[in-house]
Amino acid sequence: MYGTEKVSEDAERTAFRRAEKKYKLYYEDTFKSSKKKKQPKPVDLSEVLDFTAVLGLYKQNIQLPLGISALQCGFNGPVFCLENRPGFYFIPGALSVEEQCQWIRESLSSFPQPPNRTNHNAIYGPIDDLFVAAKEKKVLVEESSVPSLDSGANVCVGNGGSHRWKFCEGHLATSSRKTSKPVSAQVLLRKLRWSTLGLQFDWSKRNYDVSLPHNKIPETLCQLAKRLAAPAMPVGEEFQPEAAIVNYFGLGDTLGGHLDDMEADWSKPIVSMSLGCKAIFLLGGKSREDSPLAMFLRSGDAVLMAGEARECFHGVPRIFTDNENAEIAPLELQFSHEDDCSFLEYIRTSRININIRQVF
Ligand code: SIN
Repeated sequence: MYGTEKVSEDAERTAFRRAEKKYKLYYEDTFKSSKKKKQPKPVDLSEVLDFTAVLGLYKQNIQLPLGISALQCGFNGPVFCLENRPGFYFIPGALSVEEQCQWIRESLSSFPQPPNRTNHNAIYGPIDDLFVAAKEKKVLVEESSVPSLDSGANVCVGNGGSHRWKFCEGHLATSSRKTSKPVSAQVLLRKLRWSTLGLQFDWSKRNYDVSLPHNKIPETLCQLAKRLAAPAMPVGEEFQPEAAIVNYFGLGDTLGGHLDDMEADWSKPIVSMSLGCKAIFLLGGKSREDSPLAMFLRSGDAVLMAGEARECFHGVPRIFTDNENAEIAPLELQFSHEDDCSFLEYIRTSRININIRQVF
């Protein structure tokens, strides 16, 4: 799913791939070599389903577009379903602005903390306090020799033996021929693509490695996921969150079409929450040849995928970070306190997705 999947020429020809290319961020050629700010190519959004607009119709008692129905499940508003995608549920504005801010804070400061793994583990080993280090403009440096274990450094046992990395003040960062180039925490934060909570997912083997050290999913997140999952749960059963993947998107980042098929029981939903900048989500069918439906995901929206919908390809070809399209004004207000300015700075140009799973 992340960079390992080469898009073959055949894949380019599928309906899913064509939709990804339609919505992906491209820049105008004329700006490639000039010093002017790069301009995104305009994109036709007229076919993107907007559940916020559907919610508006629902509130005014106006007939919903063909193929969309509304359920009342005890939330503040309705849960929308799609006739031709059984098992897919869309809950617009499922999270309050306060909840969105809470999960943005957690996603940046506590979810990437060891023993949770992130995409940086493979290169640097476990990294502690990345968000704080980025705020303090620290730099991750590789130590040339292996000092005593209580130095607080990260140990990464990679292909080339054991390396140790630790954060230090930017002006103290040096490199020698024996060590790799120092890397700023701000760059690492920008390059944070995923972290895993609860049972740890092994991307290389594409399965859950129950032998890896892990903490339980935080209780408040469990309670939230249970509440959101209810409309998609078999009658009389409660969702048991065991693992979560947190995806981090910056401008231009995409999540290619994929299936989430590593869990034992597909009758249990994946609970997926959006935070930060608005995105386009593609919901395809069981084959990449099926034309996907494009829809907007805004901060606070939740999506459930259960049953047949678990067999549907899906992905995120685009996030919007410009003022007009990002739609994060409520977060800007809520994060206006000085202590929150680093969260605000991050989320102004980013999107976070937390998707929670019952594995067994
Ligand atoms: C996923 O499909 O794994 C994440 C979808 C999203 O980012 O909304």
